[in-house]
Amino acid sequence: MNTKGEIIARELTQRYKTDRPTTHHIHCEFNRDANYLFLAASARKRRTKFTVVDIQPIDSDTVVSMWVDIDPNTIRRHHFKMDLQPQLGVFKIHFSDESFLYCARYVEGEGDIGDIFQITVAEQSVWHNWLKLVYSEQKRRTAIPKGISNVRWTHHEGTVYTKIKRIATFPAIHPEFESLKADISFFFAHVEQFTRYDQPGVRKALLVGPPGTGKTSMCLELARDLSDTMPVIFSTDIKACAAHLQIAARQGKATLAVLEDADSSLHEASSDVLNFLDGINQPSNTAGSFVLMTTNFPERIEPRILQRPGRIDRVYQVGELNDMHALRCARLYFPEDLDIADAALMQVVTGLTGAQIKELAQSSISYAVSSCQSLTMDLIQAVKARIAEDLRQIYKYADTQSPMTTQHNIGFVTSKNGRYRRPYPDDFSYASPEEKLPF
Ligand SMILES: Nc1ncnc2c1ncn2[C@@H]1O[C@H](COP(=O)(O)OP(=O)(O)OP(=O)(O)O)[C@@H](O)[C@H]1O
Ligand SMILES: [Mg+2]
Repeated sequence: MNTKGEIIARELTQRYKTDRPTTHHIHCEFNRDANYLFLAASARKRRTKFTVVDIQPIDSDTVVSMWVDIDPNTIRRHHFKMDLQPQLGVFKIHFSDESFLYCARYVEGEGDIGDIFQITVAEQSVWHNWLKLVYSEQKRRTAIPKGISNVRWTHHEGTVYTKIKRIATFPAIHPEFESLKADISFFFAHVEQFTRYDQPGVRKALLVGPPGTGKTSMCLELARDLSDTMPVIFSTDIKACAAHLQIAARQGKATLAVLEDADSSLHEASSDVLNFLDGINQPSNTAGSFVLMTTNFPERIEPRILQRPGRIDRVYQVGELNDMHALRCARLYFPEDLDIADAALMQVVTGLTGAQIKELAQSSISYAVSSCQSLTMDLIQAVKARIAEDLRQIYKYADTQSPMTTQHNIGFVTSKNGRYRRPYPDDFSYASPEEKLPF
């Protein structure tokens, strides 16, 4: 009995022989879920090299045809961002040396469980050129770009890096930051300790804290510092992160990988997640991979992940700023010539998050400018009270609207040990209400 694949292969071979009578062996290959066709077509045009010049859809009796514009130039221009999944049917692919091959893409199975299969038919010599083109394009795509990139992973495209050209950051000020920097330097200086006995050479740290305490700012500052010596990637997708670690390990490249909002990936101990954390199936990276994860919601992370040492090597508590750190942060955001003594300024900002201090500084500056006043302690205190009152109203409103979801939506929930809490508005509460501003 003939399978669907065999019937299609016969049709393609017949077409090939009709177009180009040959006595040479005709090669036929089946691939499951392959994106070779579009991968090859997206390869950059080089005058001297073998490239795809046209993809011509062919009417076929055996394969259902379903396609949109598949001109190779369009594919190149869109950098492969188009969703190419629905490209089904029989295609004749023309190459720059006037050779060609036939390709059929069809679905076997139905609905969600349907898989795309691909059959390609050509003479051996054409076939070799085609494979070389596909592999070189695949290699080019998975080369980790230098500097800082975003990485995503899709079933269809595999791992895709998008370079981040510019990042603007303020210096991050936090007592934990120094320990984190020391941790990272130690790791890269002593990677051999982390690869002994076939260990994967990966260290994972989790930054935990309420919104606006500077977790992302720290990651960005580290990224900027390290990106001269190693590729740095940012992602919110654990699959993309895992794929990147594999590529870095295979290429023996040291790397820093930042997984933001890790709770959304680590809320369950699925096999993907455990593979990623335990390093199973991961080649050892002799140059070292440091994974930096951030979360606002440590309580959402599956306990088996947090409680078992080694899945996450170190947790950093990134909380509100106090005393000298709060003061240094305030000096960063208030004007340099602010005429307020350290002790007084420190008292207003201590216990606030970095983002709150930034907001207080910016609101105070803009109020002082718009009301033609100088930036005094009284004005800053009053702005602080005003911000607190606004936030209190927002919370009150949100609480009456949806008591169940508000706490999660707005930010931080008090945990049993009292370490994590909603930062607003209580942090501002010691400013007296009569100091409210008339705006
Ligand atoms: N510790 C800090 N030092 C200096 N600036 C800070 C600090 N924390 C926050 N900021 C400022 O506040 C803004 C928000 O901070 P950031 O995005 O780093 O917070 P986050 O902890 O990542 O918050 P989230 O948990 O909501 O992602 C940044 O623009 C940054 O300039
Ligand atoms: Mg953040």
